[in-house]
Amino acid sequence: MPHHRTILHVVGARPNFMKAAPVYHALAARSVRQTIVHTGQHYDAAMSGAILKELELPDPDVNLGVGSGTHATQTAQVMIAVEEHLRTARPDLMLVYGDVNSTMAATIAAVKLGIDVGHVEAGLRSGDRSMPEEINRLVTDRLSRWLFTPSRDGDENLVREGVDPGQISMVGNVMVDTLVKLLPAADGEEQLRAFALRNGSGPSPFVLVTLHRPSNVDDAEMLARLFAALDRIARNVPVVFPVHPRTRERMARFGIAQGRVAVTEPLTYLPFLGLQRHAAVVITDSGGIQEETTFLGVPCLTMRENTERPVTVSVGTNQLLGRDTGAMEREVEAILAGRRKTGSIPELWDGRAGERIAGLLS
Ligand code: UD1
Repeated sequence: MPHHRTILHVVGARPNFMKAAPVYHALAARSVRQTIVHTGQHYDAAMSGAILKELELPDPDVNLGVGSGTHATQTAQVMIAVEEHLRTARPDLMLVYGDVNSTMAATIAAVKLGIDVGHVEAGLRSGDRSMPEEINRLVTDRLSRWLFTPSRDGDENLVREGVDPGQISMVGNVMVDTLVKLLPAADGEEQLRAFALRNGSGPSPFVLVTLHRPSNVDDAEMLARLFAALDRIARNVPVVFPVHPRTRERMARFGIAQGRVAVTEPLTYLPFLGLQRHAAVVITDSGGIQEETTFLGVPCLTMRENTERPVTVSVGTNQLLGRDTGAMEREVEAILAGRRKTGSIPELWDGRAGERIAGLLS
């Protein structure tokens, strides 16, 4: 891999920031000139600015202010704004992260200007093209010059799609780098107190929930069924649910009440990690949280039909429950009764993925 003197990072949405941080910090320790371009896909403080501070990332050099919109609108706006920036910036390499709309849009713009792209978290596939993220993964990987994968399945997917193995490097999981670094700062004490999740001897059992995928929250019947099930679970054990803005909007639109569920605003990285480490079980449809719970050894119930992160199921603590809210209730009960899936930590999820990427690029 050639030596890169100037590297431009593109970030846009919440899950990008914890992936970019370890790569940025590792490159900063070498003599690489770096700039951070924020597309503005996410703009609320709790979804963006406050998280960047916790991760000790500098303020982005540029914020393109793209904001929300339909997929085509958001993608097009990012392409226009990134192209304009890159025409003068001309970095040796652009790095993109994960699978959000900003990732794909920035990649298309850069490649057409002849700028090489490196994709961090390459090769993941759910096989489900009804997920916008799957389209973003396919396009980004196809166009990127360098592909940094978190696990062996990523390499296998790429090779199966005809990618030259010389473009692929399995580096481990950058999200885990951030977790390892910040876990000591995320004891969760403040949140445990705020949600009354402490008894004399330590944290009392609780369920932590995050749901924001269109397949769960844009479907009125499904969202109502999820809340009805969570409400029943909350009769026996506290259920804490930091609600993504999309979910909040759908609850209001469909007239779905929170019932006994302790609904809160989105939490930033450290408070959320602080809760996650102490949760008895996490219910989610997020990608990153499937990985974080596997690293922490916390049981995870994923309300999706498929996952682009199969090691979290084969090696880790994750279980896929699809749309089966009945199974969700039964599994929570089983876990609280002590019957929980145990797991181990996947290969190279060791806190050094950012270092490996920096070593390859500089
Ligand atoms: C995006 C990613 C998803 C990721 C998620 C994490 C895509 C296709 N999806 O989904 O993979 O898991 O981020 O959060 O890129 N909104 C706000 N404030 C914000 C951002 C969004 O209120 O700061 C609201 C707006 O009503 C917006 C909606 O959330 O329309 C959806 O935002 P959008 O960026 O389109 O996608 P996410 O659902 O956040």
